[in-house]
Amino acid sequence: MRKLLLTMMLSVAAVAYADGRKELILDKGWMFSRDSVEWKQVTVPHDWAISGPFDKKWDLQFVAIEQNGEKEKTEKSGRSGALPWIGKGYYHTTVSIDQLPASAILVFDGAMSEPVVRVNGKMAGYWAYGYNAFRLDVARLLRKGTNTIDVTLNNMEESSRWYPGGGIYRPVKLILGESTLIDDWATFCYTSGVENNVANLSVQTALWNVSHNDNLFVEVALFDQKGSRVAAIHSSPDNEGKIKDFLQVSKPKLWSPESPYLYRMEVSLYRGLQLIDRKVSKIGIRTVKVSKEGGFQLNGQTRKIKGVCLHHDLGPLGAEVNKAALIRQIRTMKEMGCDAIRTAHNMPSTWQMEICDSMGMMVMAESFDMWIYPKCKNGYARFFKEWSDRDITNLVLNHRNHPSIIMWSIGNEIPEQWSEEGREISRHLQQLCHDLDPSRPVTQGMDRADAALKSGFAQVMDVPGFNYRVHKYENNIKQLPQGFLLGSETASTVSSRGVYKFPVEVSDHQVYPDGQCSSYDTEYCSWSNLPDDDWKMQDDYDWVIGEFVWTGFDYLGEPTPYDEYWPSRSSYFGICDLAGLPKDRYYLYRSRWNTQEHTIHLLPHWTWPDRKGKVTPVYCYTDCPSAELFVNGVSQGRVFKDKGSRLDRYRLRWNNVVYQPGEIKVVAYDANSQVVGEQVVRTAGKPERLVLETDRKTIAADGNDLAFVTVSLRDANGTLIPDADNQLTFEVSGAGAFKAACNGDATSLEPFTQPTMRLFHGQLVVVLQAANYMGDIRLVVRDSKNKAFMAETLVSVK
Ligand code: GAL
Repeated sequence: MRKLLLTMMLSVAAVAYADGRKELILDKGWMFSRDSVEWKQVTVPHDWAISGPFDKKWDLQFVAIEQNGEKEKTEKSGRSGALPWIGKGYYHTTVSIDQLPASAILVFDGAMSEPVVRVNGKMAGYWAYGYNAFRLDVARLLRKGTNTIDVTLNNMEESSRWYPGGGIYRPVKLILGESTLIDDWATFCYTSGVENNVANLSVQTALWNVSHNDNLFVEVALFDQKGSRVAAIHSSPDNEGKIKDFLQVSKPKLWSPESPYLYRMEVSLYRGLQLIDRKVSKIGIRTVKVSKEGGFQLNGQTRKIKGVCLHHDLGPLGAEVNKAALIRQIRTMKEMGCDAIRTAHNMPSTWQMEICDSMGMMVMAESFDMWIYPKCKNGYARFFKEWSDRDITNLVLNHRNHPSIIMWSIGNEIPEQWSEEGREISRHLQQLCHDLDPSRPVTQGMDRADAALKSGFAQVMDVPGFNYRVHKYENNIKQLPQGFLLGSETASTVSSRGVYKFPVEVSDHQVYPDGQCSSYDTEYCSWSNLPDDDWKMQDDYDWVIGEFVWTGFDYLGEPTPYDEYWPSRSSYFGICDLAGLPKDRYYLYRSRWNTQEHTIHLLPHWTWPDRKGKVTPVYCYTDCPSAELFVNGVSQGRVFKDKGSRLDRYRLRWNNVVYQPGEIKVVAYDANSQVVGEQVVRTAGKPERLVLETDRKTIAADGNDLAFVTVSLRDANGTLIPDADNQLTFEVSGAGAFKAACNGDATSLEPFTQPTMRLFHGQLVVVLQAANYMGDIRLVVRDSKNKAFMAETLVSVK
């Protein structure tokens, strides 16, 4: 214990100064324990469970998943990731303060879960929901000198339908002020309209810890990206310390996914001539509207939402939030042509929203997966009655300045859909969102269309969102006064990267002995459908305002259709796998969503030693209306997209191709029969070399930045060895460290944080983390059996 205390005393928070206030980012020097006996030093954000080991014992359940229509209880494994997230966790840190502050706010962006926070041994506060941000007024608890902060977390078993992670997995900061502060969450600037090239902005703020507001005034100023001041107001706070005013910006640069222009907003608080606080943030000018006439409109332009749902975990990093990993996710989705994400089914991290603002990604920010009626034994239903208003309030206050957020979601597949009580809760939560933010519509994802329409649950929503069951859309719309609907959750098509099953069949619950799903993209769940089914509705009906595909990336837990199969511990729904590598489906969505570049993508791979002479269908995912396929130079015919056919409207298929080794080549044509491009896929020869491709050659020397290195085994011509499962090892030296590895195999029990892993269908990803000093990181990848396979790469850390 003595040794422990000594180490703890050394952990002092980093200090960052901003104008008039001190913001201490409490990232380094935390001590962590699972049992309050054995402690280790960690940095926050931190997820205690992601290193595993994977084991079915951690989250074994005997349940019926009502959501999936199950009536009988059965044994379920891997449902929440098969990782040790259940139980308690303890965090401890110290903060040195030379001068006692008048204002002190401790801000958690999220802690999993039920955080109890003590400052200097005294209760500072508690928050029930692990996904929400919360703030604690700790001024009265601080003292000059060393202060202790202790956080106790508790994750109950069966409290989640997926992997929630465990720990202080999002940032913590302490805001200190010598006197009154600007209340960050009371500061809100939104576009009330844009007319004749002039934007009208409403702006409001309030003061924190205001005892007397003599001689106080607030200035709100907006600056464009050149640094020019484009608008400003000066206001004296009212008796409650509040301010409400208007700003006008002429010739505004509007925010959109295509042009994510951000203005800098400076809110400054003066006493007389003295600046006593300044808060700098970013805002965007843009309008959002939904209507029967225009559907969904951003800046007055109708557009159909091309969205994906994302869980909060970052694959092999777990719930531990990381900017570089979030940026990679958003970049990958944007390159596909995706323009929106839904934060399924909970509050997003602040970093994620900042990234969506700056990269141009619209967001549906969600809150709950359940209300009063539980979907799992110890889920949020335990808290809903007491906490839901506070949770919605924090969600909206924390995030309402993000231009990326285009709508709030008050729930996902809430079982109360059938009841009038549910309808009234919807009304109430929606109104709460409106009261806090009059600028955005509110939605929720409903999976029981008939019940929700009968109870009036669907009719009260600004945006009626339906999950799956596209065949009901035409009936739903007849009963919706709104005159439009959103595919709040679509597809749930399942696939494993690099896996192809024969014969190719359309099926709604296909399982195989190897625990994988086919990448011909013809398999889905009993409640769901093919991407093609969603697109038909969107193309044929103006009143479908878009979709959010389940999901952009695979996530930990929910290994449907293998909930009862072991080992399997992560999802198959992703357009990209758990490592972030695109599956074939990526190109199917890209062919429709990316309107800037052509897509010509052939599948499957063409290395099938056991399929000589066997029928091996070939698909091409392309935006082109027709293409001709050649096998070893012999034409297999030119096929055209066919509007009347379920599978041929959006894909080009050659179903009777007989496999011969060699090459397949597709030549794609535009509507005028001009050649647009071609793609060739060759049979792989002998494995020859490991190839390393790094997403960024230079990363920041900040101790957090990440480089993602894709490792593949290839033949002499560079063709991927599509079935390679070689065991590789990773040696990292220099200005960084090995962080994690992931191969996208949902059935793998290899831990993410050990520097060895098998290739899955020829590929995996190694994640490197920068040190906080400059230099090079050197990664050497070796095959553990074959010495010839060795490759290395350098990432520069600056
Ligand atoms: C939906 C649910 C999601 C996920 C998905 C899998 O019903 O909203 O959270 O479970 O099904 O298909």
